[in-house]
Amino acid sequence: MPADGDLAEAASVLRTGGLVAFPTETVYGLGANASDARAAARIFEAKARPSFDPLITHLADVADLEPLVGAVPPAVAALAARFWPGPLTLLVDRPAVIPPIVTSGLATMAVRVPDNAYARRLIAAAGVPVAAPSANRFGQLSPTRAEHVVRGLGGAVDVVLDGGPTRCGIESTIVDARGERPVVLRLGALPVEELEKVTGPVTIRPGSSGQPVAPGALAAHYAPRTPLRLPAAGVAATSGSVPGMLRGYLAFRDRPAGDWTAVEVLSVSGDLTEAAARLFEALHRLDAAGVDEIVAEPVPETGVGRAVNDRLRRAAATWHSAN
Ligand code: TXA
Ligand code: MG
Repeated sequence: MPADGDLAEAASVLRTGGLVAFPTETVYGLGANASDARAAARIFEAKARPSFDPLITHLADVADLEPLVGAVPPAVAALAARFWPGPLTLLVDRPAVIPPIVTSGLATMAVRVPDNAYARRLIAAAGVPVAAPSANRFGQLSPTRAEHVVRGLGGAVDVVLDGGPTRCGIESTIVDARGERPVVLRLGALPVEELEKVTGPVTIRPGSSGQPVAPGALAAHYAPRTPLRLPAAGVAATSGSVPGMLRGYLAFRDRPAGDWTAVEVLSVSGDLTEAAARLFEALHRLDAAGVDEIVAEPVPETGVGRAVNDRLRRAAATWHSAN
């Protein structure tokens, strides 16, 4: 866990234009001073992230929102009051102090208050809003441990704060609540069912490839280096043995039959929250297991399970399109 001195040093690195990777409750973020265009540019460079993919700005406290952006629509303020700190990202108008590079030129800014004590102390000590995408190279698996950040980004980051494994393990839910009916731009750690208890019915827009609406929702994303596929519907993946091929299996709760080179079980008790928390870690391990292919079993399509399946489909899509 980061000591106070480490946090103070990291805060000063942020203030002076450096890059700090830090834990949030969702995944590790790659932070830079969001009011400094050159610092934000370093994020895009370190991640090899296309400039059309906007960043999320992180604040230390709910009370920091209005001083930064001015009045926000009542529906947005209500969601912030209810779910922050927490895994919900909201769209607001981009304030003038945030340079356009942060929002990829969009008139809106995505913002959230993470539910992680180190993250909030870091941002408060820096005294600036912190732009932070997930701390991985663009399109690859998100980091849920400090070692994932070091492995993926290494020397490109000035400081990596180690806060242990992240609690949720999957990114925040992104919602545009400025209009009549809220629109979910990215499924995430806050289940749609929880959101709807407050807002009533929402529209889910998964976003389509190439649209700058929520590029985390690009069809192909979150991919391991190893080809990943979902088992064909209705066909039990009974055997891992395919001549000449080493295969890994990502299971929800039951170990698969057959002879697999590597198996990861997300939750033996069938708990979706635990499955989400372990998803990227399990994929990182399967990716390192030296297999030729990963077969990933979908989880029940409810609660945070929808976000888990969303990530699996996007990981699989990578291997059916780009690769
Ligand atoms: O849980 C999370 O949200 C993590 C932690 C670090 O906070 N961050 C994260 O950032 O997942 P990133 O960059 O991997 O994904 C941010 C997503 C991107 O898909 C981006 O396009 C979308 O947020 N986004 C940012 N600003 C937006 C905007 N103004 N309108 C629509 N989508 C936006
Ligand atoms: Mg990401």
